[in-house]
Amino acid sequence: MTLKISVIGTGYLGVTHAACVASMGFQVVGIDIDPEKIALLAQGKLPFYEPELEELLQSELASGRLTFSADISQISQADVHFLCVGTPQQKDGLAADLTYVNSALAAIAPVVKDGSLVVGKSTVPVGTAVRLRNELLSVNPLVDLAWNPEFLREGFAVEDTLHPNRLVVGVTNDRAEAILKVVYSKNLEAGVPWIRADLPTSELVKVAANSFLATKISFINAMAEICEAAGGDVTVLAKAIGHDPRIGNRFLQAGIGFGGGCLPKDIRAFMARAQELGADQALEFLRDIDSINLRARARMIELVRRDLSEDLTGKKIAVLGAAFKPDSDDVRDSPALDISAQVHAAGAIVMVHDPKAMANAAQRFPALQYASSIEECVAGADLILHLTEWKSYREIDPVALKKLVRQPIMIDGRNALDRESWVNAGWKFRALGRASLG
Ligand code: UGA
Repeated sequence: MTLKISVIGTGYLGVTHAACVASMGFQVVGIDIDPEKIALLAQGKLPFYEPELEELLQSELASGRLTFSADISQISQADVHFLCVGTPQQKDGLAADLTYVNSALAAIAPVVKDGSLVVGKSTVPVGTAVRLRNELLSVNPLVDLAWNPEFLREGFAVEDTLHPNRLVVGVTNDRAEAILKVVYSKNLEAGVPWIRADLPTSELVKVAANSFLATKISFINAMAEICEAAGGDVTVLAKAIGHDPRIGNRFLQAGIGFGGGCLPKDIRAFMARAQELGADQALEFLRDIDSINLRARARMIELVRRDLSEDLTGKKIAVLGAAFKPDSDDVRDSPALDISAQVHAAGAIVMVHDPKAMANAAQRFPALQYASSIEECVAGADLILHLTEWKSYREIDPVALKKLVRQPIMIDGRNALDRESWVNAGWKFRALGRASLG
């Protein structure tokens, strides 16, 4: 069966999904309300940085399988419609803002053809899918709605979409599942685990997974606090507990914690939804996960003060990294930028460098200074903060860098640098959850 597919919302998730599904051989149209974004994508240009994606976008455009349009009527011939719009945190609360999901559903409901399937991929509060399905069916009873959460990571978006570690489909009947099995036939042939669930469970899988990941990170950051108090080393501790396969060694990298457009807002929206459901006690622990995470940023600033002085006025601080994680230009809720802004607010002169996220960072925090090279960033610095673990920072020669700074003090906020080589080069080396050396 050759299916025609539409993807509504061409942000991070939507563009990746559209290009990947086109590469599986389907005819795909990507739709967005932003005509500028559509024009850019139609020329094969990505409005953000993601490894491998621009190349894939260009080859799928060239194949003729992928097109983009700001005209919603272009979806009328599609058999499957993926809803990929954003669900940010509400401005005045913890809950998710469903404005885009609601308006996308309202826009497509009168246009979708009989027999077609709408498939939600956005991260939504549990209960949303059932409500949207009822709304859709009240406009056209001959269409259906399923939910298919997305687990892709920024920096690995193409890899995660083409080779997911599981596919979860929330459906109310066999026909919807059968259609999704056609869409994902290549993955199924490759043996990707397929989990059929009801609508609420499929929504919960996503937020449960992100809550677990956030918990793992905050757990190791709590251990880092204990290590600091007791004179232990959290990197050794993480390695040791990670050998137990029940624990696993991934997502145990202690440091300044999690940020980005997903983990922080998802755990908050989950707490807000649990409260609405009268089950808030079950997720009380997520409050601690959130505060351990934010505390890591404050602890980092304490380390700065310990080496420089309580008063940071006029101190020159070089910051390596602005993105919320490497291989991304995303600065949403970035711990690196938050720390930079806080030391700046405390009077320091802050110079920031990032291989990809400078433009986004400068837009969000215009008061910080931005350097176009690592050398320019650290020149004359009283202290360096390593806040996003880009590969290029791990390759820095500490001997050469020492000649450029005013004082050789490195604080590794990601526990990612080779401490020995920095100490051997004469640096004072500090990190969260480990003893200070030098
Ligand atoms: C996260 C999930 O990992 C994806 O599975 C999910 O699909 C996605 O959210 C989403 O909901 O769309 P992502 O936001 O790309 O993906 O980032 P992660 O790789 O999860 O990293 C999140 C943050 O945790 C980063 O700031 C990272 O630096 C930090 N982190 C990660 C740590 O501090 N320690 C670790 O050990 C791992």
